[in-house]
Amino acid sequence: MSKVDVLLGLQWGDEGKGKIVDVLTPKYDVIARFQGGPNAGHTLEFNGIKHVLRTIPSGIFHPEKLNVIGNGVLIEAAIFNDEISALREKGVEPTENLYISKKAHLILPTHRMLDAANEQAKGNAKIGSTLKGIGPAYTDKIARTGLRVGDILEFDFREKYELLKMQHMQTAKTLQFDIKKFRIDGMTLDQYEKRWMDSLDTLRSFKLINSEYFINRCLRGGKRVLAEGAQGSMLDIDFGSYPFVTSSSTITAGVCSGLGVPPSAIGKVMGITKAYCTRVGSGPFPTELFDETGKKLCDVGHEFGAVTGRPRRCGWIDIPALRYACMLNGVTHLIVTKPDVMNDFDEIKICTDYIIDDKEVDEIPFEYNEVEIKPRLQSFPGWKQDLSDFKKFKDLPLNLLNYLAEIEFQTGVKIMAVSISPDRKDVLFR
Ligand code: IMP
Ligand code: MG
Repeated sequence: MSKVDVLLGLQWGDEGKGKIVDVLTPKYDVIARFQGGPNAGHTLEFNGIKHVLRTIPSGIFHPEKLNVIGNGVLIEAAIFNDEISALREKGVEPTENLYISKKAHLILPTHRMLDAANEQAKGNAKIGSTLKGIGPAYTDKIARTGLRVGDILEFDFREKYELLKMQHMQTAKTLQFDIKKFRIDGMTLDQYEKRWMDSLDTLRSFKLINSEYFINRCLRGGKRVLAEGAQGSMLDIDFGSYPFVTSSSTITAGVCSGLGVPPSAIGKVMGITKAYCTRVGSGPFPTELFDETGKKLCDVGHEFGAVTGRPRRCGWIDIPALRYACMLNGVTHLIVTKPDVMNDFDEIKICTDYIIDDKEVDEIPFEYNEVEIKPRLQSFPGWKQDLSDFKKFKDLPLNLLNYLAEIEFQTGVKIMAVSISPDRKDVLFR
């Protein structure tokens, strides 16, 4: 019986998960997504080409590997269809090696409308949602009113669809949302619905399975399975900076419910963190920089959302948040990405603790969104060197190794690899 290794983000998303999964894929037989949906944008770069994946696991570029979209994931049919077309344009044919759980829930066009309606109704308290319908679709799942992938094979699918759509239209009216003015990719709701319905054929052309049986059979057969997380631990529905979170379990626990594997089947837990920190959308971010340094992190790090194009908020690495994420996930191995963004920094800082009301705090407070948090910062000299020619972890500049050693010391978890460029060849394993 083999185990499921887990790879997930320890911050607010965009830690570089897609790229690391792609690099790790040769060691695995099956790559599985367990939560989230097209709010994710996993960017991979190789041979000078850049790919962004939304719902599909990042193992898809390896034709001999199986990729599974688990029951915990949400699928928006039209976005999925676009994703498949983009892969085919690049010569990747995913029909044979992509399996989809029949229990994965569907995002309807009206879920996307409700996302926009909810955000509008919140006014200044906006979450900054990617507006892909994530919150409303998970709401229907929990309310037991959702539609699942398996339902598209049933004769009465359209009937069920219309019923749910009607409920959504009523909710939008209650929220005083202007349905007529609403657009998705420049299309009216009716136009987009047609595209979405047509896209169901693409979805039907894939292997729709009971993925929990499939994965457990793989494990019994000794196959190596990697669970690929989306978003980040600080966006987790339970433990993130609620309500400024996404609507799924982004932590290791989500692997069990999102794939149907028991906790005893979890193996290594690999947590990814950037060498600094970013966040898209609203919510607390104690180490955020509003100065030139923050702007530089954004510019040099190309910190713009892969899904929305929004500039990401940038700041120093946040150790209290990182320790919290390591605890919640049971991280056994750390992976650090993007130190190269700070190559010409004279000074690099780490937030070791929070100061709240003049008191030192090392826990994430319940009142995360309300209290004023001052980060206690420790300063490190920069390495002031281009990293592009480094081939071995141990040869990295001493100041960078010292910086990484401090992250290990603070979190109590060993770093297994560091990524020093967007390319898959530049991940240095220890
Ligand atoms: P939603 O999941 O689209 O509703 O967005 C909720 C919050 O999570 C917003 O602040 C988003 O910016 C953030 N978010 C969702 N998905 C991602 C992601 O893949 N990377 C980074 N932030 C994300
Ligand atoms: Mg992303």
